[in-house]
Amino acid sequence: MLVIFSGAPYVPTFSRDLHDIFTEIQLPKNALVIDLGSGDGRLLLIAAKKGYTAIGYEINPLLWAVSVWRLRNYPNAHTRLKSLWKADVKDADLVFTFLNKIYAARLEKKLLAEMKAGSYFSSFGFAYGNLELIKKHRANHIYKL
Ligand SMILES: C[S@@+](CC[C@H](N)C(=O)[O-])C[C@H]1O[C@@H](n2cnc3c(N)ncnc32)[C@H](O)[C@@H]1O
Repeated sequence: MLVIFSGAPYVPTFSRDLHDIFTEIQLPKNALVIDLGSGDGRLLLIAAKKGYTAIGYEINPLLWAVSVWRLRNYPNAHTRLKSLWKADVKDADLVFTFLNKIYAARLEKKLLAEMKAGSYFSSFGFAYGNLELIKKHRANHIYKL
């Protein structure tokens, strides 16, 4: 566990859980996948390998740098060293998060206000009360906006 700058713990997800998200939902071929708090870029890498456009927002510079290196061969994947509260999610087909529960109320409000109808939100670990849960697979909660 690593705590730098944000005070938020870095706990990576398991690759199996991340792969599972993409088998649980049908995304369009040219989908935009956004990871809010993208850590070392592992979800972005999986999405990029599937041919999707992948964008991550990460405030920990060390993790951001790791993700830039990790994604260096994928022009369809980018990470921004920027707060997730500044993320533009209006064109996203899937927004993924694995964040502390303290983010939930504010994030839910942002997603409901900004995401387009029919898009997906996947929360690893925590449930969000005001969104429509369509699937729960292991620790993954998948919602449709
Ligand atoms: C539990 S980790 C998840 C990392 C990655 N998404 C994964 O599934 O492996 C949460 C990440 O969110 C980042 N984070 C926390 N607050 C943030 C904020 N306000 N803006 C951007 N990133 C943030 C942390 O630095 C950490 O890398």
